[in-house]
Amino acid sequence: MPDRRIAPSILAADFARLGAQVAEVVDAGATVIHVDIMDGHFVPPLSMGPQVLSALVDLGLQGVEYDVHLMIEAPDRHVADFAKAGAHNITIHAEATPHVNYVLQQIRELGCTAGLAVCPSTPLSIFEEVDVDVALCMTVNPGWGGQKFIDSSPNKIARLRSILGDDVELEVDGGIDVTTAGAAADAGATLFVAGSALFGAPDPAQAYRDIAVAAGV
Ligand code: DX5
Ligand code: ZN
Repeated sequence: MPDRRIAPSILAADFARLGAQVAEVVDAGATVIHVDIMDGHFVPPLSMGPQVLSALVDLGLQGVEYDVHLMIEAPDRHVADFAKAGAHNITIHAEATPHVNYVLQQIRELGCTAGLAVCPSTPLSIFEEVDVDVALCMTVNPGWGGQKFIDSSPNKIARLRSILGDDVELEVDGGIDVTTAGAAADAGATLFVAGSALFGAPDPAQAYRDIAVAAGV
């Protein structure tokens, strides 16, 4: 299995001091930063575009990968912009395009690893049809930070792990904190997105370390 890692989600960060907040969690040990892109269609809110990713990449923080989670329709129109901005991984939603195989291939041709996300209500069978570098199991409904982890998620994570085998990164996103990370890890998750539990905490570096312990990183 891939090594377990925590991916702080900047959606919950203070955007006025974004660079400093990211540097703080990288100092605490984070090697992957999760960037949530929302288009106001696939999910109701708007969040940010590739310019924000580009600005973070320009900070030049060593050893840091940027994990882009596209909660957008027509992702084929935008993947090149995020690859150019410096994404390492780009994840699209299974529900957002009828051309999943095509867009995953597009992402790899751009030099990034390719991820596929499913909403809580989406069956896992698509993972039997496509090869992915990252499988993202949403543990809340996408669109907002600060929601409660869906209690049945560990069951879904375990079923996804059995479809993927041992080698594929299995990412969980939504409601991950010290009380939920352990169950997700036990079920087979390897990459743990944490937004409000981390940047919403008084000391994000300490929160990072606490969630890492809970996830068995
Ligand atoms: C939600 C986003 C998440 C969000 C998680 O749609 O995909 O990445 O930042 O936030 P928390 O950790 O607060 O649930
Ligand atoms: Zn996300």
